[in-house]
Amino acid sequence: MAERLLVRDAIAIDPERGRLGLRTAIVEEGRLRELVEGPGPSPRPGDERLDASGLLLLPGLIDLHCHLREPGEEGKETIATGGRAAAAGGFTAVVAMPNTRPPIDDGPLVDWVARRARETSPVRVHVAGAVSAGQAGEKLAELAAMRASGVVAFTDDGRPIMNAALMRRALEWGKLLGVPVVAHEEDAHLGGGAAHEGPVATRLGLRGSPSQAEEIMVRRDIALCELTGGRLHVAHVSAAGSVRALREAKARGVPVTAEATPHHFTLTEDAIDGYDTHAKMSPPLRALADRDAVREGLADGTLDAIATDHAPHGVADKQIEFERAQNGVVGLETALSLGLALCDAGVLDERRLVQLFTSGPARAFSLPGGSLAPGSPADLVLVDREAAWTVDPARFLSRGRNSPFAGMRLRGRVRATIVGGRVVHRGETHGG
Ligand code: DOR
Ligand code: ZN
Repeated sequence: MAERLLVRDAIAIDPERGRLGLRTAIVEEGRLRELVEGPGPSPRPGDERLDASGLLLLPGLIDLHCHLREPGEEGKETIATGGRAAAAGGFTAVVAMPNTRPPIDDGPLVDWVARRARETSPVRVHVAGAVSAGQAGEKLAELAAMRASGVVAFTDDGRPIMNAALMRRALEWGKLLGVPVVAHEEDAHLGGGAAHEGPVATRLGLRGSPSQAEEIMVRRDIALCELTGGRLHVAHVSAAGSVRALREAKARGVPVTAEATPHHFTLTEDAIDGYDTHAKMSPPLRALADRDAVREGLADGTLDAIATDHAPHGVADKQIEFERAQNGVVGLETALSLGLALCDAGVLDERRLVQLFTSGPARAFSLPGGSLAPGSPADLVLVDREAAWTVDPARFLSRGRNSPFAGMRLRGRVRATIVGGRVVHRGETHGG
């Protein structure tokens, strides 16, 4: 690494203060020393220089929710390929979900993933540990041991925790250990269908899950959050009723945070028409009113973060009957552009969008980063705001090709991703 990195003449957007105008970032020893006006100091021998004129400079994006599939399903993704996809998408830190094979449910497994990440991933990988042993939903996993190994959250993501007593204990342990419990909210009895219960599922002859299957569990867990004082984080909010419940809970001061995914704030149930399994995920894409409520929640602070739920699958997992196809979409390499589209649509202003990708997630899980304050880790991303490109999954760095956004025309391209002062990804400047 060079002595000093100068990222020159960028248009900095600080999540706290908004657009700062032309700035040069001075990076030393892996930290952002300061942001100075204009082109900054004259370079010294040995300095690395990055010309960022015309580009936005943001804190590196933080993804609270991605599936890296290692150990056990390396054909779908590895920590290395997922890490490279993250860097290409502008992320400098991700939280890896524990629904691997085997699930991450004890200390040595956490240590293994963390070591693999240090050795192979260009971005920081934080590990989430399972709530229940084997994610079987029956008894608690080794929560204290996993926390000692550095997990930043507990979750059985991929599945709901149907046992309210187990969820209560998880929240109590989370409180004691200082980390949130991340909830995948769906009442398994009321829900469990392959699609949103609505006109599209009916027409296609698919069994649906109503929005209330999510809302009911969000309300239950808010109640358990009040009972225990533990921190609850609601994953991938998809329903209007959930947004309402979260808004009310936050107004009462309940320690709850929540995230929404690009697919839930962009698409509706219409995307599954033609039995398109690339638009099949859990929770499902819902009605327009649900999607718009998610957008409103992002704008008004009810939702704290945009998270990808990056869920790579193999071709054979998706080229099969709709009801049998796996749930999930890849998201790391399209998330930022889809977020910027919300700015273009007038749903979010630029500063709010940056908060949702940086300071919001950092705060929700108490992670470092997400800031342009002097002394922060030099985790940064440079973005060409106007560059238009067409989503072509064949060009993803992820192993997953399962994107419902294939062929979509988007704006905003990552030109460079910097982690701890080191440039870990350089984007193409032409084509796309
Ligand atoms: O669509 C999803 N895919 N939702 C989940 O909760 C799990 C994920 C996966 O692991 O594939
Ligand atoms: Zn997930």
